[in-house]
Amino acid sequence: MPRFQAPRGTRDLLPAQAVTWQRLNDVARDLARRYGYGPIETPLFEDSAVFERAIGAATDVVEKELFRLSSPDGRDRWALRPEATAGICRAYVEHGLHTRPQPVRLTTFGPMFRYDRPQAGRYRQFWQWNVEAIGDGGPGIDAEIIELGLRFLHEVGVADVEVRLNSIGDGECRPAYIAALEGYLRGFVDELPELERTRLESNPLRVLDTKHEPTLARLADAPRMSDYLCPACREHLAGLRRHLAALDVAVVDAPQLVRGLDYYTRTAFEYYPRDAAGQQSALGGGGRYDGLLELLGAKPTPGIGFALGIDRIADALSAGEGHAAGAAPLAVVVGADAAATDTRLRLATDLRAAGVATGVDLAGRKLARQLEAAAREGAHFAVVVGDELDAGQVQLRDLLAGTQRLVNVADLGRELRRAESSHHHGLD
Ligand code: HAM
Repeated sequence: MPRFQAPRGTRDLLPAQAVTWQRLNDVARDLARRYGYGPIETPLFEDSAVFERAIGAATDVVEKELFRLSSPDGRDRWALRPEATAGICRAYVEHGLHTRPQPVRLTTFGPMFRYDRPQAGRYRQFWQWNVEAIGDGGPGIDAEIIELGLRFLHEVGVADVEVRLNSIGDGECRPAYIAALEGYLRGFVDELPELERTRLESNPLRVLDTKHEPTLARLADAPRMSDYLCPACREHLAGLRRHLAALDVAVVDAPQLVRGLDYYTRTAFEYYPRDAAGQQSALGGGGRYDGLLELLGAKPTPGIGFALGIDRIADALSAGEGHAAGAAPLAVVVGADAAATDTRLRLATDLRAAGVATGVDLAGRKLARQLEAAAREGAHFAVVVGDELDAGQVQLRDLLAGTQRLVNVADLGRELRRAESSHHHGLD
C-alpha cells in the first residue's frame, strides 16, 4: 500500500484517461463555437452564501455536500463550487451582463466538488461541461439548449441517449401542487423512512427523488405537476415541444423528474443512457431557472442551462477508449555516444521548435537500449546521431519499416513533418 493516496472520492487522470478529458473538452469547445456560446471561467470557490441562496438551503447539495472553507482569520466563509450555474449567474449580475445583447450564451468546462458518498459514477471531485443561456424566457432557447446537450453526447460517441422532460411549474402554480403532494404524502407518513419524513417537512418535492422502494411504489399514484400547471407554464411546455419536434429531438415524459437543486422553474430535463434506470446514471441534466438571478440581486431575468457529467460520460465510453494515449512522439533522438546528451537535446529541441513531436533519450545508456525505448514509446522514427553529424547529417531510421537513410540535419524537420502529414508516415 503506497503511503499517500488521492483523497477518497477523487481520482488521478493518467495520460490515457486525461486524453479522453481533452477530447471531450475539444468537442465541447467546438460545439460552443458553432452554437455561439462564449467561454467563462469563474472561481473554484465562492462566498458560501452564493450557493445557499442559489441552490437552496434545503437541498442535499448545500445541506450535506458543500466543501466549506474559511479564511485563516475565520472571517470569510467560502465553499468549493458544487456546480457552475450559481457562480456564473453571480458573475452575470456582478458584471452587468444584462447590458449585452440577450440572451448571453456562456459555457465552462471544469471540476466541481460535492462531499457525496463515493460510489460508482459519484465522485467528490468531478468534471462538468456546463452551458447557460441567460436573458431569454421563451421556449425556443430551451429547445436549442436541450438539443445542444444531446448533440454533444452523440458527437463524443454516446449514441443511445434518452432525454427525459418535465415541467415543474413556477411560483404561480407550484405552491398548489406542493400542497397537494404534501397532503398525499401525509396520508402514509408513518411508512416514510426518516429521510423522506424530513424532506416532507423542508422540501416535499424532494420526496419524488426517493430511492426507497415502498415509497416509490406509493408515488405511482401521487398527484402530478402536469395536472397543476398554470396556463403560462402549460403554453411554455407546448411551445418547447413544438420546437423540439422541429429539431427532431424525441423526449420521454418524466412527470416525477424534479432535479436536486431548488432554482428550477418550468423546464427540467435529464439525459440517460438508453438502457439504464435510476437517478445515478444521469449523464447530465438541466432546466430553466427564471427566479435565480433575482435571488442574486438582478432584476427579473430568465435563464436556462445544463451540465453534463464528464466522468460518467468518460466511464460510459471507456470500453472503446484509452488506446489513444496521444503523447507518442513521431521521432526520438538517439545516439551512439551515450554521453552526448547535450547534442541530442539540442537536436530534439530544434525539431520541437519546428513543430515535430519529438522524444529524446537523455539517460546516457547504450544505443541498443535507446532504440528499444523509442520503439516502446510508439515512435515511428529514430533520429540516430553519429559521426556523420560533423558533416551535418544524421541517420533517419523508420522503426516500423526497418529502413534507414542519411538526411541533412537542415532538412530533418521538413522531412519529418512531411512523413507525419502523409497518412502512412512513410519515408518516401
Ligand atoms: P446536476 O444534475 O446536479 O446539475 O449535475 C449535472 C450532472 O453532473 C449530473 O447529471 C451528473 O452526470 C454529474 N454529476 C453530478 N454530481 C456528480 C458526482 N458527485 N460525481 C460525478 N458526476 C456528477 C447541475 O449541476 C446544474 N448546475 C445543471 C444546470 C446548469 N442547470 C442549469 N444550468
